[in-house]
Amino acid sequence: MENSKKRTVLVTGATGGLGTAMCKKLYQDGYNVVGNYHTKEKAEKWMIQMKEEGFNIELFFGDVSDFNSTANMIKEIESKVGPIDTLVNNAGITKDSRLINMKPEDWHAVINTNLNSVFNCTKNVIQGMIDRQFGRVINISSVNGQRGQFGQTNYSAAKAGMHGFTKSLAMEVARYGVTVNTISPGYIGTDMVMAVPEKVLNQIVAQVPMGRLGGTHEVAYLVSFLASEETSFITGANYSINGGQHVY
Ligand code: CAA
Repeated sequence: MENSKKRTVLVTGATGGLGTAMCKKLYQDGYNVVGNYHTKEKAEKWMIQMKEEGFNIELFFGDVSDFNSTANMIKEIESKVGPIDTLVNNAGITKDSRLINMKPEDWHAVINTNLNSVFNCTKNVIQGMIDRQFGRVINISSVNGQRGQFGQTNYSAAKAGMHGFTKSLAMEVARYGVTVNTISPGYIGTDMVMAVPEKVLNQIVAQVPMGRLGGTHEVAYLVSFLASEETSFITGANYSINGGQHVY
């Protein structure tokens, strides 16, 4: 690899608020960026919008909660675009309710999409990273995986699990030039966060010392930082980016 900027990055859940910002930032920083999508209609609109804005980013279908669908997607990307150097496990959903009201399907959907997806995607790229002696795995967790959140037993369990995965895999692959890190964003101004009832969201923002939601570009900057060649000694870390909402 003569130029680090030509490395290929796969962002899962690319069409969401955080995913879009990450794709744009990585593209602007010179990476070859590919995204994963789940909903075709949304993906088509997204690609048109990106082209209009001057971003040449191809999207690939894959249900990251399903191992075989993910394996097929990775094969397709590798045959069309080339090996994946950096994987950003960003796809995620919420199905908030108190545990007393939580349906088993809402538990499983969140665990499958937010946590099992991390296994499904990483398992399919890690051998290639080891063989090439370079790789970056960046797991997008949440402040709510660090501190818990009323109404999010499923989401908090999945997000906390992501960092356990990060720490263990970081140890396994450190000697091969592959780093594995977690980013734990606080409340960022995405559709997912804006879906929280206004009264509840206002109470949450009032607990953030910076007194505001985070910007998607602020998280995207951290992703690009961890994707770089220069962060080669950072592994197994969990980067908080939450405006001071949770400090420890
Ligand atoms: N702490 C303590 N008690 C609380 C509480 C809290 N944070 N929130 C609500 N309660 C209490 C209420 O006062 C109420 O008590 P009473 O019955 O005595 O009046 C009781 O719990 C039930 O409250 P609700 O009627 O609101 O319960 P609900 O089941 O209808 O709704 C909920 C629960 C859907 C979880 C709602 O509270 C909610 O949406 N919370 C926000 C969850 C959240 O922050 N999600 C983040 C989504 S974005 C994201 O996840 C991105 C990221 O990574 C940050």
